[in-house]
Amino acid sequence: SMPLLRRRHRELRDGIVAGRGEAVARQHRLGKRTARERLGLLLDEGSFTEIEMYRRRRGQDPAGRDDRPYTDGVVAGSGTVDGRRVFVYAQDFTVFGGSLGEAHAAKIHKVMDLALATGSPLIALNDSGGARIQEGVTALDGYGGIFRRNVAASGVIPQISVVLGPCAGGAAYSPALTDFTFMVRDTAQMYLTGPDVVAAVSGRRVTHAELGGAEVHGGSSGVATFVHDDEESCFDDLRYLLSLLPSNNLDLPPAGPSRGATEDLRPRLAEIVPVEPNRPYDMGEVIAELVDDGEYLEIGEGWAKNVVCALARLDGRVVGLVGNQPRTLAGALDSAASQKAARFVRFCDAFGIPLVTLVDVPGFLPGVDQEHSGIIRHGAKLLYAYCEATVPRIQVILRKAYGGAYIVMDSRSIGTDVSLAWPTNEIAVMGAEGAVNVIHRRELAAAEDPVALRAELVREYTERLVHPHYAAERGLVDDVIDPVETRAVVARWLAALEDKRAAQPQRKHGNIPL
Ligand code: COA
Repeated sequence: SMPLLRRRHRELRDGIVAGRGEAVARQHRLGKRTARERLGLLLDEGSFTEIEMYRRRRGQDPAGRDDRPYTDGVVAGSGTVDGRRVFVYAQDFTVFGGSLGEAHAAKIHKVMDLALATGSPLIALNDSGGARIQEGVTALDGYGGIFRRNVAASGVIPQISVVLGPCAGGAAYSPALTDFTFMVRDTAQMYLTGPDVVAAVSGRRVTHAELGGAEVHGGSSGVATFVHDDEESCFDDLRYLLSLLPSNNLDLPPAGPSRGATEDLRPRLAEIVPVEPNRPYDMGEVIAELVDDGEYLEIGEGWAKNVVCALARLDGRVVGLVGNQPRTLAGALDSAASQKAARFVRFCDAFGIPLVTLVDVPGFLPGVDQEHSGIIRHGAKLLYAYCEATVPRIQVILRKAYGGAYIVMDSRSIGTDVSLAWPTNEIAVMGAEGAVNVIHRRELAAAEDPVALRAELVREYTERLVHPHYAAERGLVDDVIDPVETRAVVARWLAALEDKRAAQPQRKHGNIPL
């Protein structure tokens, strides 16, 4: 009868299962939420529609247990975020530790298929002990099915992983395949092999957090894109991120109203960036002046801080900003920065988000470590990513752009649509001192007063080569602009390039250096 049906629904929804109360209390004691509470934080109120809430695993497992809770430890379905459709699954640690068995995986596969079929973002809330040990290889087969779908959906719909508890072993590969990974401090962990195995193999004792906590992945490994103190702020930022993304690769990123940016002068820009080429400043302040309301979402803030990647709106349009960060390593590009920026450029290109590249770069970071760890291979990723990007591309050279790093930071030669430079800047193969030491080595060695001669040669070299007009005369820079006009000029070009379309080359896929 109807009342019975309603009661069963309510029982399933509220998880009224014998013994589950303690598991929920434990979850709360750890500062964690239940799967349904998390969906409540993520989705617009009352918008969630669920699939397969009656799903449960098949009969007895090999251990002889016949414990078959409904949902099988994952709540899956669809809802809206600020009125826009998303598909989502949330693992429920209170049921078998959120572990993934055959039925659990089948539900995830279904919700992923629906996300792709409808062209909607997919959001995965991970909180799981991993492969359900009692279900053997079928659990591993379930993971493979998730990974294959992650890859099929890559570049078609945005995929976002949120890690809110353990995410170990094979489970860690799904977040790694998605576009963005959120982690919450103290409760989230990701690793392939846990502390016990690490100790057995290497003799080294580490805690779960030391091995794969949010600090580790947001800071040194780069596995986590966003790190938050608690689940509330994590879901707030996730909603903000979604507001900046298109639903799929055929859709436009959601634009806001024009903000009159094409006439908007920003005197602060000339103050933030010092004229002296080596004085540090915060590229974040420059970005805040350029974008609407000074508001932007930094991507991968804690990792490879020498490059800043951010999503924001500029005159209402969503843009991806890539900037060197003079505050860290003088803004030099290293292996990590190249990887971070390359992945961001490819994300923006896949989803039709125009790129604005803010250049202030002394070069690639010199060093034995860098060379030996493959900076050539990693730098090539960024080069490759820009070369193949077909979205509107605008380069702004603020202060200096030297050598290979000048080429890589979306120069004209690799396909930027428009290059703008500030008048004070230096674009050259290398700085004047270094250049003079190389070109005039013999004369300097033979000179009576090498100091005076060097100073004279540096002045000559600088006047002749190291200024934006040299580049502008050769068409490598479209315009030399007053810093205060930067927001206005970039906004005009974004409008001009809005309908850019580029033909795709006929090939299976390129071979990006990985
Ligand atoms: N398969 C089946 N059940 C699992 C599980 C798994 N992979 N991981 C956790 N569980 C169950 C536990 O048996 C426990 O069940 P119970 O409440 O009936 O006793 C429940 O989930 C909670 O797990 P518990 O170990 O008490 O939680 P914890 O917070 O102390 O530890 C983990 C969390 C993830 C560190 C721990 O559960 C663990 O090491 N799990 C195994 C991880 C693993 O090796 N997975 C397989 C490889 S991918």
